[in-house]
Amino acid sequence: MNHFEYRAGKLFAEDVDLTKLAEAAGTPLYVYSTATLERHYRVFANAFPAGTLIAFSVKANGNLAVLKTLGQLGAGADVVSGGELKKALAAGIPPERIVFSGVGKTPREMKLGLEAGIHQFNVESEPELEALNETALALGKRAPITIRVNPNVDARTHAKITTGTSETKFGIPWSRARDAYTRAGKLAGIRIVGVDMHIGSQVTELGPFEQAFARMAELIGTLRRDGHDITRADLGGGLGVPYRLDDPPPPDPNAYARSITGLTKDLGVELIFEPGRLIAANAGILLSRVIYVKDGEAKKFLIIDAAMNDLLRPALYDAHHDILSVNEAPPGTPRQRYDIVGPICETTDLFARDREMPVLKSGDLVAIMTAGAYGAVMSSAYNARPPAAEVLVKGDAWSVVRPRMSDDAIVEMDRLPDWLGS
Ligand code: LLP
Repeated sequence: MNHFEYRAGKLFAEDVDLTKLAEAAGTPLYVYSTATLERHYRVFANAFPAGTLIAFSVKANGNLAVLKTLGQLGAGADVVSGGELKKALAAGIPPERIVFSGVGKTPREMKLGLEAGIHQFNVESEPELEALNETALALGKRAPITIRVNPNVDARTHAKITTGTSETKFGIPWSRARDAYTRAGKLAGIRIVGVDMHIGSQVTELGPFEQAFARMAELIGTLRRDGHDITRADLGGGLGVPYRLDDPPPPDPNAYARSITGLTKDLGVELIFEPGRLIAANAGILLSRVIYVKDGEAKKFLIIDAAMNDLLRPALYDAHHDILSVNEAPPGTPRQRYDIVGPICETTDLFARDREMPVLKSGDLVAIMTAGAYGAVMSSAYNARPPAAEVLVKGDAWSVVRPRMSDDAIVEMDRLPDWLGS
């Protein structure tokens, strides 16, 4: 459920009229809904027993205002870089609710985490374990760790976002997990606290989670018999969301929670989750204006002012996003098939192919839906385009939470070497 809906023929974000917002803040514009973020967080958190840590995956949406909104509800953060760690802390998320994931943590980033006193590092390889040990010892600290184990389970999602099979770079292979824990147990700079896994993103069935968590439960038993003190199980993120409003929804958090709690209730561990998309995706849209309607030989193109530099998912994963006309078309409005494209000089700068829409004209507004996760965070300045600005809505209030860069600011990012003069 989200809070983007038509009122008297106009699309609103909560109580904010998107037509007026586009005039005031310009387009392309990411618009996030506080009420939707809060609702998604609460539905997920309330599905689990008190004491479960819900560490929002900052990679999905790292805007400080979004992080602070969630942090105030009790969310922690799952971070994968020094930058994300600093953002989570700057948003007021306490270090004891922060987990640090990722396959390539550098000693500099480890130091940041150790000095902040984060909840745990999710270690993804044997060399990382050694490096973390050395970094912790140099600081006179012990790093709390889980080892991310790769359960070799196929999450049956898009190949480019599958992480839990042995073909991918993630986690320590199942066959070496026990040895890695034995080694970790001998390192003075390391304190083992639990186990971790994450099998993929946009997972729309419970089966793969059940298979993976059953394997994890088994591993916890083995590790405890080996003498390790396993008190936490980090089960990652990955639960999918509906991208097509008329598709059957993926399993809801309550069904997911019931099945997981069934598998983990006797383990006596603190559960940790790292949801990203589930919380943010349907809490955000990308608002864009039609620049031109172009008649090609074989097609009609809707050229809009958002592009693949703003929202990369369609170009990168062939992802589907529903696209709505901000002015609701009255019944009987003629419809037309368009390729909806951005201004970037690439054929792949295409949001939707042959998409049936009400007939639109230059100046009309469209809303690209389900863009709150992996949207703005993946944007770039390709074609020297300043990435879309971001706005957070709360009731009838709105605020620019990432201003639009000017063209001049883009130019000023570069420096000339002495030999080229100024
Ligand atoms: N934890 C770990 C260790 C992860 O690698 C990820 C996502 C998450 C949690 C959060 O997963 P979520 O709950 O959001 O599914 N850019 C792609 C998605 C990449 C996901 C990477 N890892 C997309 O736009 O679909």
